[in-house]
Amino acid sequence: MSICFDSPNSDHEAAWNFVFDGYDPDDEGHREALCALGNGYWVTRAATCDAQADAIHYPGTYRAGLYNRLVTPIEGEASEDESLVNLPNWLALSFRIEGGDWFSIDAVEILAYRLTLNLQQGILYRDLQFRDVQNRQTTLREQRFVSMAEPHLAGLQLQLRADNWSGGLEIRSAIDGRVTNSNVERYAPFSNQHLEPVAASVLEPAGIRLTMRTNQSRIEVSLAARTRIALVGEDGAQELHPDRTIERADCYMAERLCCSVVQGTVVQIEKIAALYTSRDYAISESGMAAEDAIQIAPSFAELLSAHQWSWNRLWQRCEIDITPVEHLRALRLHIFHILQTISPHTADLDAGVPARGWHGEDYRGHIFWDEVFVLPFLVCRFPEIAREMLLYRYRRLNSARRLARQQGYQGAMYPWRSGSTGQEATPRFQFNLQSKRWMRDYTYLQRHINAIIICNLWHYYNFTNDLAFMEDYGTEMMIEIARFWASVATYNSDLDRYEIRNVVGPDEYHTAYPDVDTPGIHNNSYTNIIAAWTLYHTREALDWLPPACRTELCDRLQLNQAELDYWDTVSRKLRVVFEQDGSLSQYEGFDTLQSFDAQPFQDQSVNLILEAKGDDVNCYRVIKQADTAMLFFLLPEQELFPLMQRLGYGFDRTQMHQTITNHIQRTVHESSLSRLVYAGALAECDPEASWQLFLETLFVDISGASSKEAKNGIHLGAMAGTLHLLQHQYLGLRIHGDTICLDPSIPSSLRQLCMSFEFRSHDLKIEVKEDKLSITASFLNSDSIQLCCNGEAITLQPGSVYQCECIPTGTIKFHDYV
Ligand code: BGC
Repeated sequence: MSICFDSPNSDHEAAWNFVFDGYDPDDEGHREALCALGNGYWVTRAATCDAQADAIHYPGTYRAGLYNRLVTPIEGEASEDESLVNLPNWLALSFRIEGGDWFSIDAVEILAYRLTLNLQQGILYRDLQFRDVQNRQTTLREQRFVSMAEPHLAGLQLQLRADNWSGGLEIRSAIDGRVTNSNVERYAPFSNQHLEPVAASVLEPAGIRLTMRTNQSRIEVSLAARTRIALVGEDGAQELHPDRTIERADCYMAERLCCSVVQGTVVQIEKIAALYTSRDYAISESGMAAEDAIQIAPSFAELLSAHQWSWNRLWQRCEIDITPVEHLRALRLHIFHILQTISPHTADLDAGVPARGWHGEDYRGHIFWDEVFVLPFLVCRFPEIAREMLLYRYRRLNSARRLARQQGYQGAMYPWRSGSTGQEATPRFQFNLQSKRWMRDYTYLQRHINAIIICNLWHYYNFTNDLAFMEDYGTEMMIEIARFWASVATYNSDLDRYEIRNVVGPDEYHTAYPDVDTPGIHNNSYTNIIAAWTLYHTREALDWLPPACRTELCDRLQLNQAELDYWDTVSRKLRVVFEQDGSLSQYEGFDTLQSFDAQPFQDQSVNLILEAKGDDVNCYRVIKQADTAMLFFLLPEQELFPLMQRLGYGFDRTQMHQTITNHIQRTVHESSLSRLVYAGALAECDPEASWQLFLETLFVDISGASSKEAKNGIHLGAMAGTLHLLQHQYLGLRIHGDTICLDPSIPSSLRQLCMSFEFRSHDLKIEVKEDKLSITASFLNSDSIQLCCNGEAITLQPGSVYQCECIPTGTIKFHDYV
C-alpha cells in the first residue's frame, strides 16, 4: 500500500476530486459537512472514524425526513421545536497498538495527511501517516461510501500498514447511540436528547445491532454493523477469524477483534453498516431488517462497485463542462450535494428539500422555500424526483388549509418552515448568543412561500408536460393557494387598491414597524407582485386541464366564475409602493426608516448585533438578503414589465436597475442566497456585475463567506442556485408553451459552458463557446422539438444541431397579460 499523495494527472481528473491537504482541526467541522456522504436516504458527516462529538469533531448521521419534537421551557412558555435527529454513530472504528492508547487523530504526530472526496464515485478517502508516542510509525488509508446502489447500506474500510513496528493490534468497531443534537452553538439552550434505547444484540457469527427510538415521534431506528479483518499480501486479502469480545454500555455496543501485525504488512478492516427505521417499507421490524441486511450484504468491494455504477448513472444525466477547472469542480460539488440529499432513494420518504442538506443541524433540517433554487435543476434532469418534492407539499395541503382557516383566510396557507407535518415549524424564539437573551421570532410571517410553491408547479409542468400530475395534485394546490392570496388581500377604498398587510418579506430583518407591537410589515413589493403573478397564472393553469377534469375539480373545490373574476380583479389591483426615484420600495414605509451604512457589516447578523446593543434592526434601512430583487431573479423582463403594466404601473429597465442598485447597497448578504439572487437579478442588465456575484456564490461554502458556518450544513439553495443561474439566467433557457426559448446573457468571462438537460423526455445539450451558442438534440429523441433562439423559430430534429450568435435579444414574448 502506498500513500497516494500524487496530484491528479489531468484537469479532467482534478475536477472530480475535492482535496484537502494537511490536517486542520479548526477546519474539521467545515470539511465534515462539505465531504459528508449520503444517498438521499441517509447521510453521514465526514468525521474521522475514531472521533466522538467534541470541539473539533461531530460524527453526525441522519436519515432524510426523520424528525422529533422536544419541548424547552422559554420565558414561561413551553416552546416545542421539531428537529432532524442525529442518529447513532455507525462510523465508530478505532484500534490500539499493543501497549498504546486507542488511536485518536488528535493524540498522534501527523506526518502526512490528505482528505479526498471523489465526486464522480461518491467515495471519501483519508490518507494519513502518523507516529505515536512510542515512535511507531503507521500508514492508514481509509475509504468510505454511503451506497447509492443499496440505500440502507454504507461501507468503511481501513488499511493499516505497520511501517516500523510489529506487534499486537486490537480493533474496536462500535455503534454509538450516546448522541444528542449538539452541533449548533445557538441551539445549546434548547432540549436536545431525541433518542431512547430500545434493544441491542450480538449477531452470530459476526456483527452487532443497536435499536433506539425517537422519544416523541416514536420512530424506531436500527443500525447494524459487520466488521471483518484481513491481512493483505501480494496475493490478495486473507480474512482472519479472531475471537471477539463484546463491549456493551447504555446506548452503545462494540465488538473487539485482535490480531498480530508484522512490520511492513497491511491489515484491512472492513465495516458494513445498515440503517432501517420503522418508517421503511416492506419490513416487519427495523431491527431484524438491519440485521438481515448486513448478514446478506456482499463484500465491501462488491458493494463499492455497485455504488460506483449507480453514481455513474446519475452523473450521466448531469453532464456539465465549464472552464476553468476550479469552477467545474465547484459546480460538480454542488450537483453532488443535490444528488446525495435528494436522490431516487428520497422518492418514497415524504421528505422535502432541506435548506442545509440532511447532514446539517442548522435550521433543524426544516423545509423552507429553498426548493425554488433546487427544483429547476432537478426538473430537467430528474423530473420524477422533482415530482416527489412537489408531493411533499401536496400531502400537507390539508394542514395548509387548516392554517389558513385558523388565521381567518380561505384556501391553503403553507407554513414558512415545515418538517414532518404541515404545521408551522418556525421556532417561537431565537437565542442571541451575543446578548444571551431570547428574541421572539416573527419570520413565520413569510407568506411569500406560497407563491414559490406555485412557481415550482408552473416550472415543473412547463418542463415536463406532466398533465396527470396537474390533474391529480398540482392544479388543486394552485387553486387553494390562489384562494389564500385573494383572501389575504384587503381592499383600500381610498387608493382603490388591494393591500397585503402584516407579512415579512425574504429580508427577515424587518418583522414590524418601529415601536409597533403587532408584527408584520405592509405591501412588501416582492410579495404583492408575485401574488399577482400567482393569481394570474392559476387562472391560466385551469385551461391546461381537459374540460371534464376542470369541471370536476371546480365542482369539488366549489370554484365558480365569480371567484375567478375576483382573483382577476385582485391581480390587477395589488398595490405596489415606489420610492421617489421610481424604484420599487421594499415595503410601505421602508424609505422612512433611518439610514444605515451596511458596508462594515457585510455577512454579519445585524439584527443580533443591534439587539445586543439594546437597539432594533426594524428601525433601519439595512437588508439581510435580496428581497425585492427576487422578482428579477424569477421573472425575465419580458414577463415582469407587462405584469407591472397589467397592475397599472409603468416599469422599465432603468427602474429595475435603480431598484437593484438601491437595494444591494443596503444589503449585508447574511444569507448565502443573497448574492445569488442579486446575480440573477443583474444577469440581463449588468452581466459583468452579475458574474462577480455568481463567483462569490460559487465558492460560498468552499472558501467564501459561509464556509465557517457551513460546518452546520452546506447551503443547498445557494449551491443549486449557481446551476439555476447558468441554466436560466446566462443561457436564458425558458419554456413558452411547447417551445424552448433561449435568450442568453453571457457575461464576458464565461467563455465556455456546456450543460445537458431533459425537456419532456427529449435529451438536449446547450453549449456556449466564445460567441457561439449551439443546441444539440440527442439522436435518440423520439421526435423534433420547437426552439426559439434569438427571435428565430426552429424545428430541431433528433440528432441535429442549431448554432447561432450569443446575443441577448430580449425579444421573446412570454405572456400577453390580458
Ligand atoms: C434565509 C431564508 C432561507 C433559510 C434557509 C435563512 O437565513 O433568510 O431565506 O430559506 O435561511 O436557507
